[in-house]
Amino acid sequence: MRGLNGKVILVTGGAQGIGKATALRLAEENAVLVVGDRNIEGADAVAAEIRESGGSARSVQLDVSSKQSWQDAAARITEDHGGLDGLVNNAGVTRDKSLLKMAEEDWDIVIDVNLKGAWLGCQAIVPLMIGRNGCSIVNLSSESRWGAFGQSNYSSAKAGLVGLTRTVAFEQARNGIRVNAIAPGTTMTPMVEAVPDDVRKGWLDNIPLRREAQPAEIAAAVAFLLSEDASYITAQILGVNGGSAL
Ligand code: NAI
Repeated sequence: MRGLNGKVILVTGGAQGIGKATALRLAEENAVLVVGDRNIEGADAVAAEIRESGGSARSVQLDVSSKQSWQDAAARITEDHGGLDGLVNNAGVTRDKSLLKMAEEDWDIVIDVNLKGAWLGCQAIVPLMIGRNGCSIVNLSSESRWGAFGQSNYSSAKAGLVGLTRTVAFEQARNGIRVNAIAPGTTMTPMVEAVPDDVRKGWLDNIPLRREAQPAEIAAAVAFLLSEDASYITAQILGVNGGSAL
């Protein structure tokens, strides 16, 4: 992919799953990685794995739902790298329950991490991108943005990310910053491995490719949107979902 060589890119929730796969893929493309996660041991391990394979990576402790944590991370990145070229707002959590069983805390944490976390991230990081060339943000939305049983909190957050993505894309186009989202279908990560097998089998009937995604397949799409190969793509939501008609 063109234009990722030497680009400094922060991946949130980079300790495992899609975030880890994205960090590893971007390192293969010779990007300079900042692996952010509230799980700092996990982020450290991913950064170490990248360095052991000859790449460049640091880890940063980051709770995406905290403005202070974003400010601390932004200050650290400015000190280490002088700015940032790419941001992947990937950190996410689920707290699935049907509407009448869902506690207010289940709503709050899912909105705070998945939606407010990305908004705080854009606010903290856009100033680090202004004045650099070829900067790009990728948010992780989901098929669930159309609504999903037991996910009134998560679906709302992932639908909200569509509005956030397009609005920040419109506002930041003047600064040359492209903003897009990936909407993955079911992807085999610890988040999904927690779902019962019979529920997962039901999902496959709605996926023409008849299988779940692997994290590396989502990572490839994220890398494409961050790269110069996507230089005329902004304000888009790219489904990576095996053809799911949802
Ligand atoms: P995962 O649960 O495997 O990993 C999430 C990562 O985010 C973990 O490393 C966790 O420590 C970190 N994290 C959680 N809360 C955080 C916080 N407050 N601050 C910083 N880091 C935090 O999840 P997975 O499956 O890799 O998902 C990644 C993204 O992709 C999420 O936004 C998820 O909603 C989205 N997605 C996942 C799908 C799937 O089927 N796995 C499908 C569609 C979207």
